[in-house]
Amino acid sequence: MNIGLLGGSFDPFHKGHESLIDGALRSGIVDAVIVIPSGRNPFKSGRAVSAAPYRFFMTKNAVEADFKDRKVFVSDIELTYSGTSFTLTTIKEISKPSYIRTFLKANGIKTSKAEENHCFFWISGSDVLPTFVKWHKADEILKIAGLLIASRPGDGVDIDEQIDRLEDVFGFVPDIEVFEIESVETASSSMRKNQDFKDVPKSVREFVDTHDLYPEDAPLDLASDEAVEKFNEDAITLYRYLGEKRLLHTLNVGILSCRYARIYDKALCDRALIAGELHDCAKELDESLQMEMSLERSGDTFIDKKLIHSPAGAIMAQREFNITDPGILDAITYHTTGRGGMTLLDKIVYLADKLEPSRTYADLTKERELAVTDIDAALRLCVKSVKKKFESRGMKIHPLTVDFMDDLEMK
Ligand SMILES: [Fe+2]
Ligand SMILES: [Fe+2]
Repeated sequence: MNIGLLGGSFDPFHKGHESLIDGALRSGIVDAVIVIPSGRNPFKSGRAVSAAPYRFFMTKNAVEADFKDRKVFVSDIELTYSGTSFTLTTIKEISKPSYIRTFLKANGIKTSKAEENHCFFWISGSDVLPTFVKWHKADEILKIAGLLIASRPGDGVDIDEQIDRLEDVFGFVPDIEVFEIESVETASSSMRKNQDFKDVPKSVREFVDTHDLYPEDAPLDLASDEAVEKFNEDAITLYRYLGEKRLLHTLNVGILSCRYARIYDKALCDRALIAGELHDCAKELDESLQMEMSLERSGDTFIDKKLIHSPAGAIMAQREFNITDPGILDAITYHTTGRGGMTLLDKIVYLADKLEPSRTYADLTKERELAVTDIDAALRLCVKSVKKKFESRGMKIHPLTVDFMDDLEMK
């Protein structure tokens, strides 16, 4: 098969990307397109792009909705590969027979087709041609893949001239194919800047709204570059341990915790971001392992199956994410029950867990309003509904939660 590869940040994935995919398939030059959201982008600092799992799931959902029954697939290779995402490394990794055959079969391609020898084309707009020679090991890229160039009317690039130039520079004839597409004036960066999402697919619009992906108040602005880098790196690690829904939930909790820290104590922004992000890290581990880790961290304080992921999370945060800060470890440990003498960091993570934007278990308008003005009042409302739920089910409230309620002066 001839396979087109479309890499990018996709922050957000938009109609311009869809028109590239559609044009590549219609050209008949490729039989299938694999879309590859970037993992660790070597050219963009952590703050410039959303964490990789957001972009991966947003793109995957859009492709599944809009290219149903067409051979367009999304690969998570840049989230599972441990190095930096240079185009050359990605093409090398994806074209390995062991990867591509398994990937195609998992995406419904017949075994006989999947096991052919495939040709790969890197899909790009014509604007990349003038600067392509500056790409990391550009000549090596062209030795293992062709370029499939989208030409837009009036884009001002003389493609033949550019191809001749590449031949001169590299000393061999690169495989460069061209297809034409309608001009689509869209750029992810201006969409984010102008909060204008009319040119994104419906599923992307919903995703952006559900997760409040591009908030105008830029909650990470007061976090340090190191903390944001760590947040993004940990998000890639978490992809190995959590399914889509829970992973996006934990990332949302990290960002919301940072926003609350900015309101109540700016110095807590970095720690809140990381504690929130990791609070549920252990939740999808094997239950017996969670129990073991819970006993190690807290003895028999937490024995309920729903609670053991919190102390287990603290152990996992230490081992897998190198967290040594006792305050972060405590905030993770007590995020389910609360405790007497909650620190501000504990409170922030507890609250963000209940109120992050994708939470829809109840109308949380009042709680969300209070959370940004009076943290204890917001906590009282949240704990009140927890208490109500427990009472209606005839369940005993955990002694740590009772202490927490006493502190909040709840009757
Ligand atoms: Fe949790
Ligand atoms: Fe949670």
